[in-house]
Amino acid sequence: MTNKSSKVSGFYKLDLDKRLDFVKDFADLTKEELDIFSKGLDFEIADRMIENVIGSFEIPIGIAVNFQINGKDKIIPMATEESSVVAAASNAAKIARLKGGFTAECSDPIMIGQIQLLNIKDIAGAAEKILDHKKQLLELANAQDKVLVSFGGGAKDIEVRILDSPIGKMLVTHIHVDVRDAMGANAVNTMCEALAPMLEELTGGHVRLKILSNLANKRIVRAKAVFDKDKIGGDKAVDAFLESYTLASIDPYRAATHNKGIMNGIDSLIIATGNDFRAIESGAHAYATKNGQYSSLTKYYKDQDGNLVGEIELPIALGIVGGASNIHPKAKVCKKILGIKTANDLAEIVASLGLAQNFAAVFALSTVGIQKGHMSLHAKNIAVMAGATGEQIDRVAEQMKSENKIKLDRAKEILAEIK
Ligand code: MEV
Repeated sequence: MTNKSSKVSGFYKLDLDKRLDFVKDFADLTKEELDIFSKGLDFEIADRMIENVIGSFEIPIGIAVNFQINGKDKIIPMATEESSVVAAASNAAKIARLKGGFTAECSDPIMIGQIQLLNIKDIAGAAEKILDHKKQLLELANAQDKVLVSFGGGAKDIEVRILDSPIGKMLVTHIHVDVRDAMGANAVNTMCEALAPMLEELTGGHVRLKILSNLANKRIVRAKAVFDKDKIGGDKAVDAFLESYTLASIDPYRAATHNKGIMNGIDSLIIATGNDFRAIESGAHAYATKNGQYSSLTKYYKDQDGNLVGEIELPIALGIVGGASNIHPKAKVCKKILGIKTANDLAEIVASLGLAQNFAAVFALSTVGIQKGHMSLHAKNIAVMAGATGEQIDRVAEQMKSENKIKLDRAKEILAEIK
């Protein structure tokens, strides 16, 4: 993979061909790989992915530049319909690289499967019996996926939980599975189903649910970056940032929006790599309640020199093998652009991007607000809606911005004047 620099100024000013050339050169793409970005999803592929297919739905894919993660330069494909997100991530990465970029690390890729047991007479005894048969249960689970085991993965541990519920006590068995480079849902669900009869036999109970948990709190990724105090406006700016962040740390109303900003970045990369963004979303939001109240997935503080330090921690159930990530042609090229070899490599980029996105949003909010940035693209969209084409789009948008009047009727008037 390339050692080329991901640092680019004014990437947005380049025309499409120049942007594509940069990506081709950075990631050593072939012409065929590059051409994939200008094509829609082939009907036959789409038809194999889901049911009742009538076509495909396109959203833009942009490239976030300037990222440095664990010492390596990265450019990041982001599939999103929201304006300002890609630019904001690139700006945050540019600031972060002044202090060495992002450092990120992952736990082992351990997913949790749940098997729910009901109608057990001696629930404490049943729990003990399950733990006494841990070895046999793990052997049975691992017999379901010899390939995963041959790669060093497989079922590693069993836990039991006794839960009170409105319908009586239930015993929930957790199986911990190292899924290596897969998202892991299929492997874990197969193992859960395979263990059910043995668990019923051991406990005398009835199995109801057998399914993976999206609260993947044994598959955690962390990223960290230092944002240069002077670059972001000095002590006062750092304090303003920390005041803004503090609300997210104590108030679920703000934390939900703060975390939404994180997911703006994360989801866009999850989608670009053909992963399941609902799995990541549910895991992230559930994890955000880990201290008893829904809170921020990031935390910020000052280092001894007064620079702003940001950290993020979240569960990350994603894969680089299996599923759409191996089928969708754009997802395959996106993985090449990212230069990743393992699911953990991807998770580290995901977490760094989430932190960058969050820093950018909170920084904007604690200074000029986010509307300024949003309005630029919004003005262009309004100009297009008014019928502007080519150069007219920028002229109409600029005029509306200078008048602080970004409205369809005004766009139409300006366009008429230009014409
Ligand atoms: C908008 O999509 C995301 C933000 O609201 C995030 C935040 O408030 O931190 C800007």
